[in-house]
Amino acid sequence: MQHFLSLFDISPDDLQLILRTAGVVKKKLAAGDRPNILKNQVIALLFEKPSLRTRVSFEAGMAQLGGESLFLGSDVGWGKREAPSDFTNVLGQFVDAVVCRAKQHAKVELLASFDAMPVINGLTDLCHPCQALADILTIEEVFGSYVGKHLVFVGDGNNVAQSLALICAMLKMRFTLACPDGYEMDSDWMAKLRAAYPNAEIESVRDPAAAVKTADAIYTDVWTSMGQEAEMVARRQAFADFQLNKTLLAAAPSSARVLHCLPAVRGEEITDEVIDGDQSVIVRQAGNRMHAQKGLLVWLLGRDWIAKNVV
Ligand code: CP
Ligand code: NVA
Repeated sequence: MQHFLSLFDISPDDLQLILRTAGVVKKKLAAGDRPNILKNQVIALLFEKPSLRTRVSFEAGMAQLGGESLFLGSDVGWGKREAPSDFTNVLGQFVDAVVCRAKQHAKVELLASFDAMPVINGLTDLCHPCQALADILTIEEVFGSYVGKHLVFVGDGNNVAQSLALICAMLKMRFTLACPDGYEMDSDWMAKLRAAYPNAEIESVRDPAAAVKTADAIYTDVWTSMGQEAEMVARRQAFADFQLNKTLLAAAPSSARVLHCLPAVRGEEITDEVIDGDQSVIVRQAGNRMHAQKGLLVWLLGRDWIAKNVV
């Protein structure tokens, strides 16, 4: 069964097909055409953490494709009321796929292990693959192509950065992480990435101003992710020199564009003038969550349509 727990679950060819499908479906929507590709199909959204973008973009996207979605909060008792196998096998009787936002990546792996329905990762501590799809779609739209582009991530080398490093490797893009000591990407993740993509152009540096000099896209994320609130004070200190502000942006080419997965802590990892400035594409990027995920949903649940409509 095909799952989407991380971008390791798909090949570069699959990835490009998902992105092309997203582009075709997005163009149709702009022309007023909402093909019912997933008519009568139902997805569940099983979320252990808050969400605006991921939740609403999946719900709206599924509705636009003619399908339905069910939001499942804590009252379904995942991991609490019954054995994981019972929970998952029963859920699989009702829905065609589940999008899961979990505190630990191992929990989405457990959910997928029963092969009761395709499982889509809607963010874990390890990675955020749906976000990375939208980010590349945005870079492609803004620059006309993602080929040869340099993405510089200034901030914490955790879930969002890890998915971006991998998607850049899959698309032969250059990826630089500028982070303080101790906030590198996970070593197991990087070992797996380098084994799968030995030619990946990935570097980790300490000087954000030097890193952004050749950037096409400059990306940042919160210093304190959901679940890390106890570390907030230490993180504010560690990341103090890694704020995406006017001075840092001035060190980049004027053609560089600013991305952020959102939600942002304005005044912390990014300043108002940068997030609201001319080089920022964050709103378009957030909107692309829906378009990218429609591509993913059609790829998972509507493969026949792709064969006829996407070249
Ligand atoms: N970027 C993102 O995943 O946003 P939400 O937490 O609002 O879903
Ligand atoms: N790194 C952030 C991303 C939120 C979309 C977090 O995990 O909270």
